[in-house]
Amino acid sequence: MKGIILAGGMGTRLAPVTLAVSKQLLPVYNKPMIYYPLSVLMLAGIREIAIITRPDNQDSFVNLLGDGSAWGISITYIKQERPEGLPQAFVLTRDFIGGDRCSLILGDNIFFGHGLPELLAEAMAQQSGATIFTYVTRTPEAYGVLVRDGRGDPADVVEKPKVPVSNEAVTGLYFFGPEVSDMAAALKPSVRGETEITDLIRAYIGRGDLVAQQMGRGYAWFDSGTHESLLQSSIFVQAIEERQGLTVACPEEIAYRKGFIDLDGLRRCADGLGNGSYGLYVQGLCRAFGSGAGE
Ligand code: G1P
Repeated sequence: MKGIILAGGMGTRLAPVTLAVSKQLLPVYNKPMIYYPLSVLMLAGIREIAIITRPDNQDSFVNLLGDGSAWGISITYIKQERPEGLPQAFVLTRDFIGGDRCSLILGDNIFFGHGLPELLAEAMAQQSGATIFTYVTRTPEAYGVLVRDGRGDPADVVEKPKVPVSNEAVTGLYFFGPEVSDMAAALKPSVRGETEITDLIRAYIGRGDLVAQQMGRGYAWFDSGTHESLLQSSIFVQAIEERQGLTVACPEEIAYRKGFIDLDGLRRCADGLGNGSYGLYVQGLCRAFGSGAGE
């Protein structure tokens, strides 16, 4: 299974914050936004990951994440010259995907919830077709939304419906088979001049090959692409972390717990993190794991 993080785009809804900095590098509370989607892929057990960026700010992502080896993963960087719609991600990563299945996650999507690893494991085990994850929202007009038939099976998806058709938003986490690159390349641009991920999903519905997993009310899902949602996601993460003393989306911790790195690798990570609260957390993990506690 290959992982793809789409971290391109102009982040226009966050201007002027994004005039000089990539949206996906902005902080969500105490870590760069991209740590959250990256953590989801790592939690799923995916270790080969492509990050798609704008050509002019790829260097910043490389400076932050390098080749991924510190976390026991491998990161490939791919430039997107012009954003032409989310499905373009699968055309740009055709060679990277090879004949494998892949998971795409949008670089501004934040997921949190008990049971997420199990939900991911189910999608990872799927042999063919696609899986999407949906979430009940108060603002369906801002998203792609799923319409189900009388039996609860996926019937259609509509991109940013002006007239409400359902309150079940399609989140920015998807699993597809290797055929997705050809299917994406065959899509025609919508009226807004870009290809739409919803058209791709509709094609899987047409084949009877789509699993639509609803993330229940116990999950939190944010797309942190507006000033309001960026602040809300930061406050959410801060509240959980303060309460539990556990860090949300800490790739160093996930890498160790998943066995991608050993204790020495975790210590090397800690050495580079300084003495802020994030660094102290990773130092604490080293002590706990070193003494056999906290496993
Ligand atoms: C995109 C997709 C939409 C999906 C959303 C999830 O919208 O087009 O179907 O529901 O991501 O974050 P965008 O945020 O690019 O407008």
